Amino acid sequence: MSVIELKNINKYFGSGISKVHVLKDVNFAADRGQLILVVGPSGSGKSTFLTIAGGLQTPSSGSVEVEGQAVESLTKAQRDQLRLNQIGFVLQSYNLVPYLKVKEQFEFVDKIKHEGNLDQKELADLLDQLGISQLVNQFPGELSGGQTQRVAIARALYANPDIVLADEPTAALDSEKVAEVGRLFKNLAETRNKAVVVVTHDLRLLDFADKTYEILDGKISLKDKEHVTDR
Ligand SMILES: Nc1ncnc2c1ncn2[C@@H]1O[C@H](COP(=O)(O)OP(=O)(O)O)[C@@H](O)[C@H]1O
Ligand SMILES: [Mg+2]
Repeated sequence: MSVIELKNINKYFGSGISKVHVLKDVNFAADRGQLILVVGPSGSGKSTFLTIAGGLQTPSSGSVEVEGQAVESLTKAQRDQLRLNQIGFVLQSYNLVPYLKVKEQFEFVDKIKHEGNLDQKELADLLDQLGISQLVNQFPGELSGGQTQRVAIARALYANPDIVLADEPTAALDSEKVAEVGRLFKNLAETRNKAVVVVTHDLRLLDFADKTYEILDGKISLKDKEHVTDR
């Protein structure tokens, strides 16, 4: 069973003559142990896809299933629990708390989610892997774009989710750091049996993917990586 599956998803925004069809009959599945890439140009529907997959927005039609359970059949409280306990988001806005130091961002997660988070050793290893150990006493406003991005990744992974959904997680990173993040995600999927879904226009991540989808004008298709449209 796929850990997350989208079935015939359509998403419209607006109404009347300004109605836009942003996702068109999207079918998608992610399995544990895989790093899955969804590549596409700006405006193709990647963020809409990812937020629907993670239950942050509802589709206009179609079904999202997590561990075989239809998300739309859950109550709001159940959906909140699902997101909290099973899904880690790395969103483009990063969602770091501006008045908390980096190390306090993780303590903040502990306050919201009381169990199942990484222990101190695992957190230290993660920060080390991401090259941000020296930043623990900094505030988000003191970080560069790339550092912020890596802290946001660490914060999502700290909660030890089964499913990681990341929106353009490497946009601000140089190629060396992209490779580190690619390896980290792939390693996480493989060794900890997670499903990692990354939407991006960053083709530097292609080499790390177990499976690659391409999204163009709201239509998604499975690709072999040699044939991804480069633009
Ligand atoms: N809340 C919204 N209201 C209206 N249009 C939206 C909304 N969110 C996204 N869109 C439109 O949907 C399309 C896809 O957007 P998005 O999913 O953000 O693409 P991507 O992440 O690939 O750049 C764009 O044309 C965008 O303008
Ligand atoms: Mg986007």
